Amino acid sequence: MCGIVGYVGPQEALGVVLEGLRRLEYRGYDSAGVAVRVDSGELASAKKAGKLANLEKVLADEPLPPSTIGIGHTRWATHGGPTDRNAHPHLSADGRVAVIHNGIIENFAGLRAQCEARGVEFSSDTDTEVAAHLLAAAYDDLPAGPDRFAEAMRVVCRALEGAFTLVATHADEPDTVVAARRNSPLVVGVGETADGTPEYFLGSDVAAFIAHTREARELGQDQVVEIDRTRGLTVTDFSGAPAEPKAYTVDWDAAAAEKGGYDWFMLKEIAEQPQAIADTLLGRLGEHGELVLDEVRLSDQELRDIDKIFVVACGTAYHAGLIAKYAIEHWTRIPVEVEVASEFRYRDPVLDRSTLVIVISQSGETMDTLMALRHAKEQKARVLAICNANGSTIPRESDAVLYTHAGPEVAVASTKGFLTQIVACYLVGLFLAQVRGIKYEDEVAAMVADLQSLPGKVAEVLEQMEPVRELGRSLAGADTILFLGRHVAYPVALEGALKLKELAYIHAEGFAAGELKHGPIALIDQGTPVVVVVPSPRARESVHGKVVSNIQEVRARGARTIVIAEEGDDDVVPYADHIIRVPRTPTLLAPVVTTVPLQVLACEIADTRGYDVDQPRNLAKSVTVE
Ligand code: AGP
Repeated sequence: MCGIVGYVGPQEALGVVLEGLRRLEYRGYDSAGVAVRVDSGELASAKKAGKLANLEKVLADEPLPPSTIGIGHTRWATHGGPTDRNAHPHLSADGRVAVIHNGIIENFAGLRAQCEARGVEFSSDTDTEVAAHLLAAAYDDLPAGPDRFAEAMRVVCRALEGAFTLVATHADEPDTVVAARRNSPLVVGVGETADGTPEYFLGSDVAAFIAHTREARELGQDQVVEIDRTRGLTVTDFSGAPAEPKAYTVDWDAAAAEKGGYDWFMLKEIAEQPQAIADTLLGRLGEHGELVLDEVRLSDQELRDIDKIFVVACGTAYHAGLIAKYAIEHWTRIPVEVEVASEFRYRDPVLDRSTLVIVISQSGETMDTLMALRHAKEQKARVLAICNANGSTIPRESDAVLYTHAGPEVAVASTKGFLTQIVACYLVGLFLAQVRGIKYEDEVAAMVADLQSLPGKVAEVLEQMEPVRELGRSLAGADTILFLGRHVAYPVALEGALKLKELAYIHAEGFAAGELKHGPIALIDQGTPVVVVVPSPRARESVHGKVVSNIQEVRARGARTIVIAEEGDDDVVPYADHIIRVPRTPTLLAPVVTTVPLQVLACEIADTRGYDVDQPRNLAKSVTVE
């Protein structure tokens, strides 16, 4: 939520900042803005409501003077509507300080009143602007010296409450950009140009600078960072005590964050799913077929002591958690509860030392999930993160982490992130079963072999997507589409409905097929499209047969039935207006294959309706506010 870029180095700053913003635009696209510090000792800035392209038009008409220090922002609006006036950067009253911000400053009203009492006039409705005025005042109050700008930022941070990443440039600071973070993401990039001149980058995530360097530094909570042309990188906490940022090398390059010939990032990311699953499984199998999850930094004894599991996540990641419940309970016999993070955090869940809380997050920055994690830790529960973004806050604050190796996911709608989260959940479930002695090594090895067949099966599904795209085009005029599933296919139905809502803005709902008769069946009208995800005929206790009956029930009431069923499942044929076939897959693993046609369907419907598939309205990729 909000993309942030900062640069100090020998290159033309505006180009570097705009390129970073292009790669971060998925984080928010309500407005965009930049500020540079020019050699004459002034700041120059430009900002515009709407997508980055609007700002680029402004800059083409009125170019900024050359500069080697710059900051830039792409916004997802919180305080103040998505207008030019509320776009970042925000300047201090004297125009000498420019600030960009991600997060929410919760005590901004009181601080604003204090500034106004001093005669400051505000020119936006945002919470951010207060930080620009406070920073200018704090800077003016401090004696000259190399640490002045960073100290001013620390003074401001000590006064702020809430969540913030702040990045600032000052007209009187020709070599320095300062930044701070509390609860919102910020990483530093350290690189050098071809002639060996050092350069420094700031970004909400590494995509901001991946075209220039893969060397990153992870910042901790409540830290201020200064990037300076000659002094390099300095990190302190808010009181000024030095801190050592953790260095890491990003394991993907700029090409991975490009569209690579696809019309949409989402299409590329759907196509990358076989590889993403294979990468997530890679290196996690020992020489005797047993699972080896060294990154799970919990001892065998701690894992044996677990008597209850909570899976906590948001949106699509929550759906991965719902699927995990079926698999983990079945394999480990440990009770599993699944809850959306924003509810879990505030309802006083019963947790103790023997509770394992699994938090799932592609971005590792979702604020609701982060707050749930912190709450779980306060209650002394063990927290295991399943996460895609290396170095992000959620894995850093968890006791243990299992990374999904999906690579960068740029489209706002999660696809490969989701499938790899499901696979990681399977790994955790099997690992727990192995450590606790509930499954023998050969049983685990057999199931891991099933997992390893998944990339091939997903690839098979992807090869057969043309009829699904055609179907998508025919559904583009629908007002409502319903999704049904049962057993492990129920969360898949929920995910199919979410994808359609967020991409195509069509009313869509997912139901447990068995619940239909308790009310939702009243929604079925002549021609209502109903997508039914059919569990394998080998699923427990004839749930398959029951879903076949559910298809008949909706069809009898006029529904147009679109059925996703395994190869060879002929029972569905008489009741399906359209059949989408998926390869035969063990019941618990089936969501990995049955989800894929639903992703393609939503993408095609949205594209046919003329919408921006990668950046749907009102959304942002990582939701860093509660
Ligand atoms: C998925 O398509 C979404 N846009 C959204 O639901 C997302 O999954 C959710 O916000 C959680 O994000 P996270 O995995 O980065 O925590």
